[in-house]
Parts: sequence; structure tokens; C-alpha cells
Amino acid sequence: MDFPGRLVRLLKTSPRVVALTGAGVSQESGLRTFRDAQTGLWAQYKSEDLASPQAFARDPKLVWDWYAWRREAVKAVRPNAGHYALAEMARHISNFTLVTQNVDGLHRMAGSPDVIELHGNIQRVRCSVCGEFADDWIDDPVSVPRCSSCGGMLRPHVVWFGEPLPRPELEAAIEASQVCRLFFSIGTSGVVQPAATLAHAANDRGAIIVEINAEPTPLTSTADYFFQGKSGVILPELVKAVWL
Ligand code: APR
Repeated sequence: MDFPGRLVRLLKTSPRVVALTGAGVSQESGLRTFRDAQTGLWAQYKSEDLASPQAFARDPKLVWDWYAWRREAVKAVRPNAGHYALAEMARHISNFTLVTQNVDGLHRMAGSPDVIELHGNIQRVRCSVCGEFADDWIDDPVSVPRCSSCGGMLRPHVVWFGEPLPRPELEAAIEASQVCRLFFSIGTSGVVQPAATLAHAANDRGAIIVEINAEPTPLTSTADYFFQGKSGVILPELVKAVWL
């Protein structure tokens, strides 16, 4: 694949770079995205039944079991070439900030340092009442496991629809986006706020926007460069073109 000389030169000079990733980055690891027609999770399940505080209040066991099923799916997969390429980029660019909407932890597993997880991490579980994290719990076929400190129901450490993002992570992501020279939006449909505003925050301050996605998105018309295809193919090629 040919990459524009300007982009290659810019990356070589190691400016401040932000990469925002979404479910598409983990698709080649075997995890399902959310909004892809047919295969996306939200094509099969209703987000309002499974991923909101109201859903948990209505049927905690259904929500717990759905996340338990996804947690097992995540445990069974490994990072792909796209995750490894992003970890490699961090080794070459001194000021590289990786922000992800993914809760699968695959960036960290691939060796990316200091990943900003905007939507939490599905492997972590916390009390829905006191917030304390639980390292282990006993699964029960009828009810949701309880917190050993206060007896509250345990829940996944993920951000549900209608919940605020963790403040330190969001602030760090906004700050990095506002000062970066290059902003990559990779494998995200760019429709979930506030993550979707990060590219615009970067663009408003004059950053160059690079999008890598299997399909065009609402960001594509704003992007300076759009590379259509799989991130597990394009990212390693970009790393090779710039540094190897
Ligand atoms: N390489 C690159 N892009 C891909 C690939 C791939 N191999 N496979 C799919 N894509 C793209 C799709 O074209 C789509 O634009 O990834 C995007 C996935 O979009 P979504 O399913 O909407 O996932 P995401 O943008 O991460 O969703 C944001 O919504 O419900 C939630 O909390 C959940 O964090 C998630 C948030």
C-alpha cells in the first residue's frame, strides 16, 4: 500500500500523535463489533436491554450473564497485527496517546503502554453500590454475585449507555486530542459520544486527521486521509513504510 509522503514524513518526525480505536480494531481477533449490519452485537441484541443502568435494575441477572458470556469470548482471543502495530508506533513516537473505546484489554496485551480506556474493561468487576472492585466471586445460576464488603450486586466495570465516562480518562483524552498534530481514528463508527468528538477537537486545533476503517463513517468527509480496509492489514503496512 502507498502512503502519502507527507504522512510518512510527519510520523518520522515524531509529533504528538493520538490514536482512537473502536471495536473494528478487535474484529480480526475474532470479537464482534457493535454496529456492523448482520454481525454486530447491536444487530442481534438490544443495547437498551443489556447495556444501561435501567436494564441492570430491571433484570440484573440477564445483564450479568450477557457480560459473563462476552468476558469469556474476550478471554479466548489474542491481539492481532493491528494491536501490535499500535504498540510498535508507541515505541517510535515519544508522545503517543492511545485512547480506546474497547473494553477487551487487547491493546495492553499487545504491549501498548498507558492505554486510556474510555469505556472501562470487561475483565474487571465492581460493586454497583460501593464501587469496590472484586477479584473473584462465586457464580450462581439464579442470582448476581454480591460484593463481599457491602452486599451490593456486582456489575461489569464498563460504561453503559446513559452513564458518564470516567473523568480522568476523558480529560486526558481531550487534552491529548487538543494538542496533537496527528489524530488517527481507527475501526470506530464514530457515532458514540463523547469519544466521537475527540477527532473534531483535534481537527478544530489544526491536527491532521487520519481515518482507517473498513467502511466510510461520518468522520470520513472531515478526514485528511482515509484508508479503507482492515486495520490489521493497514496499520502494520504503515509502520513498515515509516520505520522499518
Ligand atoms: N478494520 C477496520 N475497521 C473495521 C474492521 C476492521 N477489521 N471491522 C469493522 N470495522 C469498522 C466498521 O466499519 C465500523 O465503522 O469498525 C467500526 C465498528 O463500529 P462499532 O461497531 O460502532 O464500534 P465502536 O465505534 O467501537 O462503538 C463505540 O459503542 O455500544 C458501544 O460501548 C460500545 O465502545 C462501543 C461504542
